[in-house]
Amino acid sequence: MKVLLVNGSPNKKGCTYTALTEVAKTLNAHDIETEIFWIKTKPITGCVACHKCRELGKCTFDGDVVNEFVEKAYDADAFVFGSPVYYAGANGSMVSFLDRAFYSNSHGDGAAAFKHKPGAVICSARRAGTTATYDQLIKYLGISQMPIISSFYWNMVHGNTPEEVLQDEEGLGTMRQLAHNMAFFMQCFEEGSKKGLTVTEEDKPRTNFIR
Ligand SMILES: Cc1cc2nc3c(=O)[nH]c(=O)nc-3n(C[C@H](O)[C@H](O)[C@H](O)COP(=O)(O)O)c2cc1C
Repeated sequence: MKVLLVNGSPNKKGCTYTALTEVAKTLNAHDIETEIFWIKTKPITGCVACHKCRELGKCTFDGDVVNEFVEKAYDADAFVFGSPVYYAGANGSMVSFLDRAFYSNSHGDGAAAFKHKPGAVICSARRAGTTATYDQLIKYLGISQMPIISSFYWNMVHGNTPEEVLQDEEGLGTMRQLAHNMAFFMQCFEEGSKKGLTVTEEDKPRTNFIR
């Protein structure tokens, strides 16, 4: 089993990475493979609502990390999405990344990359805006039929440098408990699928509230 962890910071080994590493190390202790996927620093264009993904089964923009990530996501069993807090919300590049990764994967068979796979979000901040960022990021999972994994506190760490994050004992404990919970539920899902358990699929009425 493998968990793909997204570092949505322009800092490759900054605070978000430090928090994700704590999650990854704990998952590894449960014999779960991990990969930290960094969104890097090149511009990530926002979704332009061209809807080409409905035909292509992937985003029409191939020039950045979004499609590369979704390809990897098909093979992952669970996800952790991490972002630094920017102006009390997620980093703008991470928002563009998630808009396109999730939207391009929400049609037809493409939904297989995320649907019914456990996921969590984490955020890192110097001081404030963490719960707003958590609320913002969790919504991608909540509309994608992903079981959301939580911890004994909302998943956040505090610090302006990795060294400061390493002093945030409660934050790091929150990351470790998140990983323990994720490992447990991943094992439950694996046992369930061995038994042939599947989810009953409901037809989705799409009404836009006008009829
Ligand atoms: C543009 C920008 C906006 C920020 N806004 C906030 C904020 O609203 N609240 C906060 O506590 N920290 C804020 N910070 C600090 C970062 O969230 C914090 O240092 C974070 O841990 C950095 O994570 P990283 O090392 O993974 O990039 C901001 C930093 C930048 C560059």
